[in-house]
Amino acid sequence: MTRLRVAALISGRGSNMAALVAAAANPDYPAEIALVLANVPGAGGLAVAAENGVATETLDHRSFADRAAFDVALDARLRDHQIEFVCLAGFMRLLTAGFVEKWRNRLLNIHPSLLPAYPGLDTHKRALADGVRVAGCTVHFVRAKMDVGPIVAQAAVPVLQGDDEDALAARVLKAEHVLYPQALRLVASGAATVDGEQVKFAKAPATPAILFNPPL
Ligand code: GRF
Repeated sequence: MTRLRVAALISGRGSNMAALVAAAANPDYPAEIALVLANVPGAGGLAVAAENGVATETLDHRSFADRAAFDVALDARLRDHQIEFVCLAGFMRLLTAGFVEKWRNRLLNIHPSLLPAYPGLDTHKRALADGVRVAGCTVHFVRAKMDVGPIVAQAAVPVLQGDDEDALAARVLKAEHVLYPQALRLVASGAATVDGEQVKFAKAPATPAILFNPPL
């Protein structure tokens, strides 16, 4: 089996990247994490990647004149490493439309909300302020507009009475670490493909249980 050569792009601790690296440690997983690239020097996830034997690169966005120049350099690094597919994993930087177009349908993102609800920052704070009973996370293909694009997979978690931002973020993050490897598996194996602006599955997945909150 040839495995898809994937780069994970990070800006911080990289726990989602680490979940992808852990999944890809299984030789049956259809992707390998061939590169971890950070736009922030010393990003915590770089050490985690190196400890796991994954090649790392740092591209400090502050040393580029503008977004377009950064994205050209980013594209060049990805090509240097023969990268075929990119996973944004806590990459806190907007990509130019040019870059997104070049990597169209070869670029995934994970976002800590049930999109299209709560795109952007402070998702948990806004969900708590709205009093929603269910929160979650989304893995989607990237389009030029932030947190928009064909949705591969979502996971829902309950919002519990007394939750603060940290408690909710921790519950969602736990789901993210399961969801992202599963979504990349579906895409890398060809089981999930983009058709128009929607993701289609080769075989209908089993119907999961309904999450009721409060429970029945
Ligand atoms: C995650 O919540 C992810 O959904 C969001 O940024 C956070 C990154 O966390 N895009 P980590 O760096 O993967 O630990």
